[in-house]
Amino acid sequence: MGPVVEIADLERLARRRVPKMFFDYADSGAWTESTYRANSEDFGKIKLRQRVAVDMTNRSLETTMIGQKVAMPVALAPVGLTGMQHADGEILAAKAAAEFGIPFTLSTMSICSLEAVAEATKKPFWFQLYVMRDRDFINALIERAKAAGCSALVLTLDLQILGQRHKDLRNGLSAPPKFTPKHIWQMATRPGWCLNMLGTKNRTFGNIVGHAKGVGDLSSLSAWTNEQFDPRLSWSDIDWIKERWGGPLILKGILDAEDAKMAAKTGADAIIVSNHGGRQLDGAPSSIAALPEIVEAVGDKIEVHLDGGIRSGQDVLKALCLGAKGTYIGRAFIFGLGAMGQAGVKQALDIIAKELDTTMALCGERTVSELSRDNLYRYDQP
Ligand SMILES: Cc1cc2nc3c(=O)[nH]c(=O)nc-3n(C[C@H](O)[C@H](O)[C@H](O)COP(=O)(O)O)c2cc1C
Repeated sequence: MGPVVEIADLERLARRRVPKMFFDYADSGAWTESTYRANSEDFGKIKLRQRVAVDMTNRSLETTMIGQKVAMPVALAPVGLTGMQHADGEILAAKAAAEFGIPFTLSTMSICSLEAVAEATKKPFWFQLYVMRDRDFINALIERAKAAGCSALVLTLDLQILGQRHKDLRNGLSAPPKFTPKHIWQMATRPGWCLNMLGTKNRTFGNIVGHAKGVGDLSSLSAWTNEQFDPRLSWSDIDWIKERWGGPLILKGILDAEDAKMAAKTGADAIIVSNHGGRQLDGAPSSIAALPEIVEAVGDKIEVHLDGGIRSGQDVLKALCLGAKGTYIGRAFIFGLGAMGQAGVKQALDIIAKELDTTMALCGERTVSELSRDNLYRYDQP
């Protein structure tokens, strides 16, 4: 393989280095995967306005997300089982993000625990919370996030029940992996991955095992997670979470203008326009298609962020032009991690920053805050 010049190169490398069941877990959407595909494809339909003879010196990608300084308006999205893409994946990604100067968001369903990530890193990271039926566990988790010094809580609202992902069912996905001949074969053909995994103790859901009532071993863990996502979650729950947490709060998984208005009323600091990377409601619009009407509805009341389908700095720029104040990448950094660990995440961030910077310059702008619909060519809703 030639040099790594774009995210697709990292994806190809990750496919070769990560056992199939875990690569597929990342590279999948719900049911027909139409929303998963649309997330990226709809970015491609948006065209940019090329401007010339504009002074391009002194460009900067720096800005803020929820008032926190970021080197570019791109955060790492919460991704469950990141530590199965590469040993200690959450720690490595958090380190790469901290060095770059952008936020890392740790998933509730991470392999490395809140405490393990906090111990291995120096800068505060963000924590993503799923609301579980066991409210004692949620309370304890919020306290642990505070103790770990997390500087924002990202509350995910679009996963009260799990969307069906065919690849995971076919692969019999679990963490840690099962030891059937098929699974052993998938791991044996990825010796580098195995070697790294043997060198870490972080191999199951670190935030849950040993912390949730009655979850001491793996069989109890899978039974617990399957029944734990709380189907009763409603807007009124956000109040008590906000109160318990007491810090910056971001609501993730908003895809509809009516829901965005409800979210704005909660007093949260930001919303993330997201369809969970196409992993929940297949057939829902892409995030970038949903963004304009949400910005129109609440853009003057709450900070609007976006994730879903971002594979380049150009995608980031398009989201900013349509009113997002920040973006998140999921698979783009996961592929980097699977390909080359911490160096791969850094490379993913370097690629995106360079593409964003160059595109911004060729559009005739010098700072990300200047980007607007004016930079898009005859923009029509995708
Ligand atoms: C493998 C995988 C696991 C994910 N796990 C979580 C999770 O634990 N919590 C969450 O809020 N979102 C989760 N997401 C959704 C991401 O936070 C984000 O919304 C999505 O990845 C954005 O789309 P992109 O991957 O195209 O950038 C996950 C996404 C992927 C791909």
